Amino acid sequence: MIEPLPDDGVVRKLWVGETDAYRDHLLRLDADSRVRRFGGGVSDDFIRGYAEAARGFGTVIHGFFIGETLRGCGELRMSSSPFTREAEAAFSIEKPWQSHGVGSVLLERTLLAARNRGVRSLCMHCLAENERMQQLARKFDADLHFDFGSVVGEVDPPRSTLMSVTREIMADGHAVTAAIFDAQSRLLRPA
Ligand SMILES: CC(C)(COP(=O)(O)OP(=O)(O)OC[C@H]1O[C@@H](n2cnc3c(N)ncnc32)[C@H](O)[C@@H]1OP(=O)(O)O)[C@@H](O)C(=O)NCCC(=O)NCCS
Repeated sequence: MIEPLPDDGVVRKLWVGETDAYRDHLLRLDADSRVRRFGGGVSDDFIRGYAEAARGFGTVIHGFFIGETLRGCGELRMSSSPFTREAEAAFSIEKPWQSHGVGSVLLERTLLAARNRGVRSLCMHCLAENERMQQLARKFDADLHFDFGSVVGEVDPPRSTLMSVTREIMADGHAVTAAIFDAQSRLLRPA
């Protein structure tokens, strides 16, 4: 499933050292999106600490970039136990770019990354009133279990295959090429 991205946006994995961009993106979320992303109101300090923790191994973040600015993210956090094969996913898109298909692309890439890392069960926590996130999860056949005002979407990604690994490598390679091309065209642009 490939959907066109708005405003010539690019989706690629965040590179080492880009957690500051992740932090700044999360801090830019409007109040309502922040509540939906974290399941409740959180402070700026909480977000700074949260983004810092995303530096660790076991976290894969796909970003949606407009130019050099990160406007959306899909985060995959593997369980701390290597034996459970569980992971959590969470999504955040800044308001002007919501409902333009970005979440769909980020969820597709996140599912592929989960599959290629042997994840069997992927949880997505979201508030019961968050219809857009539930609709998005349903697009990918998630089973949703309603539980005390929150929703846990359980997705069982199928096992990785040579084809699924190749798809991830090709997506990464394409993103690097696009980033280099973008940087070159900026350098060549007259001031
Ligand atoms: C939830 C979120 C990730 C969805 O991403 P998105 O880019 O806005 O979603 P998409 O444009 O890919 O749309 C996904 C589906 O939602 C549905 N949808 C879109 N806009 C909607 C709206 N305003 N109300 C209800 N459903 C809507 C559509 O049915 C769409 O499916 P379709 O393409 O088959 O029509 C994004 O809106 C967001 O970051 N919200 C704030 C944070 C949040 O809620 N995070 C989720 C908890 S982890």
